[in-house]
Amino acid sequence: MSLKGRSVVDLSDFQRHELRQFLDTGHDLKRKQKRGEPHEVLKGKSLAMIFMKSSTRTRVSFEVGMTQLGGHALYLETGGTQLGRGETIGDTAQVLSRYCDVIMARVFGHDDITGLAKYATVPVINGLSDLLHPCQIMADMMTIEEHRGGLEGQKIVYVGDSNNVSNSIMQGCTIMGMDVTIGSPKGYTPIESIMKKADALSKRYGTTLEVVTDPHEAVKGADVIYTDTFFSMGQERSKEKENALMPFQVNKTLIGKAKSDVIVMHCLPAHREEELTSEVMDGPHSVVFDQAENRLHAQKGIMALIV
Ligand code: CP
Ligand code: NVA
Repeated sequence: MSLKGRSVVDLSDFQRHELRQFLDTGHDLKRKQKRGEPHEVLKGKSLAMIFMKSSTRTRVSFEVGMTQLGGHALYLETGGTQLGRGETIGDTAQVLSRYCDVIMARVFGHDDITGLAKYATVPVINGLSDLLHPCQIMADMMTIEEHRGGLEGQKIVYVGDSNNVSNSIMQGCTIMGMDVTIGSPKGYTPIESIMKKADALSKRYGTTLEVVTDPHEAVKGADVIYTDTFFSMGQERSKEKENALMPFQVNKTLIGKAKSDVIVMHCLPAHREEELTSEVMDGPHSVVFDQAENRLHAQKGIMALIV
């Protein structure tokens, strides 16, 4: 079935063969771009990009990606639109759908992105909500395929605060046949609704999914170690949380417990010497800048198929 018209809000809305189509298209468009082959498959199309919070990678990769596909992207910061003065998400979705061919939004509450998708008559892409970050994980899976030759049977261990990134890892990586371990301290483990959904996916796709509260135990046998900030956008810093998460820092000792050829991932922005050390981030195991680059290619793959 064609993916045309589908919104990408939550990876658990998709089946393995559908995510495979996105990934393959991303790899294909990446090859074309590297070879300088034209691939303006979205000529004349417009992407509306709504940002309710900060971004470097998401903004630039979507905007440049749309340009490379032959289309045009509009940057809409909430404060500069009527959303900032109380126009509803539903009305905004309907209006933008009259002008644009696809909408991408970065929001706080996940309800805002599901609301956009409900009222828009064009596809909606989740550019990060408090709950999920699907485009990030599509780029990450492209990166894992490039560095490890495939996804099925690979063990990915996310260590740190359970958040939007780890939630999407639990969905996307499980659907694609990876074994997922979340290493988080008590009080910062995945929320129940995400755990339930991911458990069902893991049974369906015959993978393992576990939550471990000891970081050294968690990374045993890891092919991939992944981490993210202790404090996501919108969260208050607290000493209590920092103290709970510091033992989960990705440093040389921790990666020494994984496979010798483990790759280390981070969605960025990183807080050096907090969730991971510079020694590891700039070291031979790190693929963090390949991940950042693949945001461009993965999202081009998504847009090329849904628009
Ligand atoms: N990883 C990511 O989404 O980065 P930005 O916040 O810079 O968009
Ligand atoms: N978990 C982080 C990801 C940033 C890309 C946040 O939500 O701030």
